[in-house]
Amino acid sequence: MFRNIMITTVAAAAVSLAGASAQAQSTVKIGALLPMTGQQQSTGVQIAAAIRLFMAQNGDTVAGRKVDVVIKDDGAVPDNSKRLAQELIVNDKVNFLVGFGVTPAALAVAPLSTEAKIPQIVMAAGTSIITERSPYIVRTSFTLPQSTVIMAEWALKNGIKKVVSMVSDYAPGIDSEGSFKDTFAKGGGQILESIRVPLANPDFAPFLQRARDAKPDAVFVFVPSGQGGTFVKQFIERGLDKAGIKIIGPGDVTDDDLLNGMGDQVIGTVTAHMYSAAHPSAMNKAYVAAFKKANPNLRPNFMSVGGYDGMHLIYEALKKTGGKTDGDQLIAAMKGMAWESPRGPISIDPETRDIIQNIYMRKVEKVDGELYNVEFETFPNVKDPGKAKK
Ligand code: PHB
Repeated sequence: MFRNIMITTVAAAAVSLAGASAQAQSTVKIGALLPMTGQQQSTGVQIAAAIRLFMAQNGDTVAGRKVDVVIKDDGAVPDNSKRLAQELIVNDKVNFLVGFGVTPAALAVAPLSTEAKIPQIVMAAGTSIITERSPYIVRTSFTLPQSTVIMAEWALKNGIKKVVSMVSDYAPGIDSEGSFKDTFAKGGGQILESIRVPLANPDFAPFLQRARDAKPDAVFVFVPSGQGGTFVKQFIERGLDKAGIKIIGPGDVTDDDLLNGMGDQVIGTVTAHMYSAAHPSAMNKAYVAAFKKANPNLRPNFMSVGGYDGMHLIYEALKKTGGKTDGDQLIAAMKGMAWESPRGPISIDPETRDIIQNIYMRKVEKVDGELYNVEFETFPNVKDPGKAKK
């Protein structure tokens, strides 16, 4: 109901966006578009919690200006993201648009951030192309190729020769499939089948049966955050683990948010990713403890750090501009910025405005009665390989 009300008011307000952000305001306004309901809800919940935690720890004033965050639920539906972004720009006169739980939401808003000259901070979505769609986009999440290329190299070195690829049938899935396949095939690996599974309400079972019949060493999987539990359950129900088939992929499938519910059969699963709740730095230990204290029963996952670091980026950029909210000045301030995240050291590539970060190889293990992705190898300062190719 809440969303329907938003949509009708936005339609009437869709006038010229140019200059809307330039007005002098005492409060810095951040509009967050997040899936707080629907299939991607866990992403919205994690990022909203991380934004709140950052502000609780760092205050709601920066460079002499009060910071106000408005969260709007787009349900991960790109038409909603676009309408809500228009309303946030025109009516609320926001200085930043942040969030974006899925790639289509980030892409739908890109032309608006360009027109209004408002920084668009992508805290979740992971398709390589996103940062190329607006000069005002800066990403604090990840790209899928950052993890999949490293995953492919690891598989080649660890006796995995034949793989069935299984990805969600939309942009980040296609990105994952392509980047994994390129590296794996070049290194002599064989892709037996490339299967694409519908994004909405997926039933993996028939596809898993097909995968099992192909007798691969491993299934390479990309599912978006929130779907890993269903995938693993059906993988086990279909007996693929007992047939000796491994799960490999970017770490979205063994998401820290859901991992504890997947059961001990998932122990030993190897993935490549940018964040684990078990990352052994002092900063991450403090982050996990503070996050859990503020959100009982919720363990921070890789989406949460995209939100936390996105807020850091905004605060530091405002410090650099002396509290000015001119979009071009803010983007210039963000380029090349480097800091320590709970995931490890990160920076913003000044050329592409995309994140540069460590990618870790991890294996699911039981530690103190809980399942964790335990890191065992680090690939430092990985740029998006998806862009290097173009
Ligand atoms: C995306 O839509 O870009 C996306 C969503 C969830 C993920 C990864 C990528 O876990």
